[in-house]
Amino acid sequence: MIDFILTEKNFDRDNIPWNGNRFLTGNGYFGIRGTLEEYTKENMCAVNMAGIYDRAGDAWRETVNAPNPLYTYVKVNGKKYALPENEPVSHEQKLDFENGLHSRKTVWQTEKGKITVKCERFASMSRRHLIAMRYTFASDFECDAEIITGIDGDVWDINGPHFVKMRTGYEDGVNYVTGVTGEKNIFVTVRDTVNADFNAASETENTEKGVYRRISFKVESQKEYSVEKIAEITTSEDDFEPQGEITEMTYTELKAEHTAAWARIWDISKITIDGDDEAMYALNYSIYHLNCIAPREMKGKSIAARGLSGQVYKGAVFWDTEMFMIDYYIHTEPQIAKTLLQYRIYTLDGARKKAKEYGLKGAYYAWESQDGGYEGCSDYNVTDVFTKRPMRTHFRDKQYHVSAAIVYGLMKYINATGDYDILNEGAMDMAIECAEFYRSLLIKKADEPYYEIHDVVGPDEYHERVNNNAYTNRMAKFVFDTALELIDKYPSDKYDGLKPMLKDSSENIFIRKPDENGIIEQFDGYFKLEDVSVDEVRSRLIDPKEYWGGAYGVAADTQVIKQADVVAMLSMFKDDYTTEVMAKNLEYYEPRTEHGSSLSACMYSLLSCYTNNPEIAYPMFMKSAKADLTKGGKEWAGLVYIGGTHPASAGGAWIAAVKGFAGIREENGELICKPNLPKKWNGMRFKLIYKNKLYVIEVQNNSGAVMIIT
Ligand code: BGC
Repeated sequence: MIDFILTEKNFDRDNIPWNGNRFLTGNGYFGIRGTLEEYTKENMCAVNMAGIYDRAGDAWRETVNAPNPLYTYVKVNGKKYALPENEPVSHEQKLDFENGLHSRKTVWQTEKGKITVKCERFASMSRRHLIAMRYTFASDFECDAEIITGIDGDVWDINGPHFVKMRTGYEDGVNYVTGVTGEKNIFVTVRDTVNADFNAASETENTEKGVYRRISFKVESQKEYSVEKIAEITTSEDDFEPQGEITEMTYTELKAEHTAAWARIWDISKITIDGDDEAMYALNYSIYHLNCIAPREMKGKSIAARGLSGQVYKGAVFWDTEMFMIDYYIHTEPQIAKTLLQYRIYTLDGARKKAKEYGLKGAYYAWESQDGGYEGCSDYNVTDVFTKRPMRTHFRDKQYHVSAAIVYGLMKYINATGDYDILNEGAMDMAIECAEFYRSLLIKKADEPYYEIHDVVGPDEYHERVNNNAYTNRMAKFVFDTALELIDKYPSDKYDGLKPMLKDSSENIFIRKPDENGIIEQFDGYFKLEDVSVDEVRSRLIDPKEYWGGAYGVAADTQVIKQADVVAMLSMFKDDYTTEVMAKNLEYYEPRTEHGSSLSACMYSLLSCYTNNPEIAYPMFMKSAKADLTKGGKEWAGLVYIGGTHPASAGGAWIAAVKGFAGIREENGELICKPNLPKKWNGMRFKLIYKNKLYVIEVQNNSGAVMIIT
């Protein structure tokens, strides 16, 4: 049996940003970057709050980082020992992702002997407002030591500062820091309480932005001294209350409760792969991350593209959620999937406003959605590396496919849960208005019988303002068909006029067919672009951080694409195409795809499974599952920092494993399993929820059995 533990055995300062992501802990309400206790904002330390946004001046609006209650370091005989300043003798950082526990152990050499700091901490999965930490000091000589531990309100911000007012103080053994945001006056309060298991003198001191305890004690050689900290975070936007008072809790009790909560989550979400420990480890690590960011207990909240790993991508929600992440939640904790869709229902007004802004009808959802559906994406979303000027990009105004992704997510949810009630809770309006939006994009040329959609950015963002993007047109048809299906199911007079129009749109929208070679052209004129390799395009870069797309990007006038586009469309509408066509398109597009987005590989993996090529699918699956385990992911788009965790890739790995390799699908309302395992895998075992029933799936050497448990 493999351990679900991630370990780094040495200290490498270059890994600080990456470790912040891969050692992340979280509970959906906040995410704690995997930084060390003594770190400050210089080392990208953050407790990132889900769905709490602020805009400082004219900078981009982004999520807020809470004051950091983990801030702790040690002094020995008056001298501070901390990373990265003091080189350690040994250092180990660990994430036990079975139990959601982060830990570290660091040994330093001092003038008189060795000292050891150990720390274990977690974002409580059972009480979402809480963080708990046990910090332990030992030395192999007698000395005077001080543990300085506090709440550091001088937080890391990309587009801050967000706290325009701060209050700090202490009362009855509880220290607190409250930050008040400038734009909406949101209060973020962090309180903590600390207990030492030894005799010590403790003093508390507060500054403008923080509050700190100084715990001083005499140290005997070879003895461990532990302090336990329980911290609580609340905001004035909360829709659920903290449970219990922090002064009455112990680390041990909270830890037991927390690990029990993780055990319940794993009971349904763990995937066993026989014969491939590396794949099993990476896939479950991806699942861990999906669980750290799931908005449990929260109303109408969604998940940002970089999860809770920081303010990257403005903490905004993209199509990533409905296309790549929601499947996992639908089949393991459907209530979370519903919460994600409720976010889109609650933000329908924002989508209506955006459609109006562009003279369109219905609901045009934000490309980078923030609270209230506010569009966080700017017209100048990338900074040019050469001129340092913002570049005009068209993600905001032309990436029309986002509304369709939401309808697609909704139907995946309804089909797998049978929860039609959601339609009465706002989802019907949402689907119909998305259909109206696509209708308002249709163009008919004088002598042509069909409708076209022009001036689009498809999933491959490198080619802007193209006509008839195969993916976008097919998704628009899907939305028309869905609206018609829903109207048929729930007829109402108010749709009488709309129905024939939707039928006409669906029947006459231009859906490009495979050409004589079986290839579907990505958009009008794509085949006329220069046909060069990805490496050749890469070699034309003058600066490694240069943006490949946009008007002058190196990929713009070539056939090199950023990510799955036609391939994504084929994997979603596989029943409309022959296996031969799917295979030919995979073969054509794969060498032309940069996979510059972490959303890409999983789609190629899935389609390769659908074309019975699990060996080709396998490396693509591994790339997705290891997105956060592999060093050197893409960190820049122009001069904009885009590093962080990759939950869409994690969700995509889950889809590739479950729907691709295990071949789980629905046929005539039944769940069936038609596996296509890579040679290395002897079998798979996992649970799934489908239409309120819990299933166990057992796959062995390419024969599958689906069993209902309850
Ligand atoms: C991708 C988008 C994606 C976004 C957030 C971009 O790099 O091209 O498709 O939605 O990242 O993950």
